[in-house]
Amino acid sequence: MAVALRPLSYALGAEVLGIDLTRPMSESSFGEIYRAFLDHGILLIRGQKITREQHIEFSRRFGELDRHEALPRDRHPQYPELLMVTNVPQADGSPSNSRYTGQLWHSDMSFTLVPSLGSLLRAAKVPPVGGDTMFANMYAAYEALSAGMQKLIADLHGIHRPERKNAGVDPAWEQENRRLNPPVAQPVVRTHPETGRKALYIGEKVKSFEGMTQEESRPLIDYLIRHATRPQFLYRHQWQPDDIVIWDNRCTMHVALGDYDPAQRRHMERTTVLGTPCGHVAAEAAVH
Ligand code: OGA
Ligand code: MN
Repeated sequence: MAVALRPLSYALGAEVLGIDLTRPMSESSFGEIYRAFLDHGILLIRGQKITREQHIEFSRRFGELDRHEALPRDRHPQYPELLMVTNVPQADGSPSNSRYTGQLWHSDMSFTLVPSLGSLLRAAKVPPVGGDTMFANMYAAYEALSAGMQKLIADLHGIHRPERKNAGVDPAWEQENRRLNPPVAQPVVRTHPETGRKALYIGEKVKSFEGMTQEESRPLIDYLIRHATRPQFLYRHQWQPDDIVIWDNRCTMHVALGDYDPAQRRHMERTTVLGTPCGHVAAEAAVH
């Protein structure tokens, strides 16, 4: 079966048409899907009424799954391979811990030593309007830099922290998160282990470059993020229930816009495919 594809934007992404994840899929069809994933950075599969087990099972075809030890509070108690991204309040009525997940430009698990290969996010409940996610093509962003800038950043490492856009909301969680996830230095220019292409690897969890102060690093970090998030490098996804969006964390970054009424429910579940080891624990002296 030749998998049919429809481009999602000029910058990146493709919709995969005519597949049904409740049915068995041959190795050759999956091979075409994986090829499309490498070529387009993001895949969208609409209308998939799948169970949690089917979500996990399909995700495993991409590689070994993260059991989310780095984010223990956000995983499903019975399915550690599923990370909840939800604003549905907890059983005791307190706000969900993951209601701000993803609201900074980032690549999943970049703050760990095994950053993710890719993520598969399933939309279970979406608000009537908004709650969109934007994605950036980090190959295109890297390639559009001048030779001088490419040379300047070639050997830099960004220090990635596990922070979310909820500073001050839950100090106990923040403390636990910091303890579980010490700052990790990642190359700013990363060679994709499968395609061999260079991509920018930066985001809003980076507050400094290794060996430099925050004050020195800030202008260049700000420039690189502003550059990478120019509209021509982006795709903006408007979710429908039963959408599955799959992204390659090694050559894209994304942000949850939070552009919706918090009284409306938004419930997403994510599997995270483990990548290859990358980066090192940041030298303490460089962490300001
Ligand atoms: C994620 C994430 C974005 C969103 O699940 O990794 O960043 O829009 N989600 O929910
Ligand atoms: Mn994310």
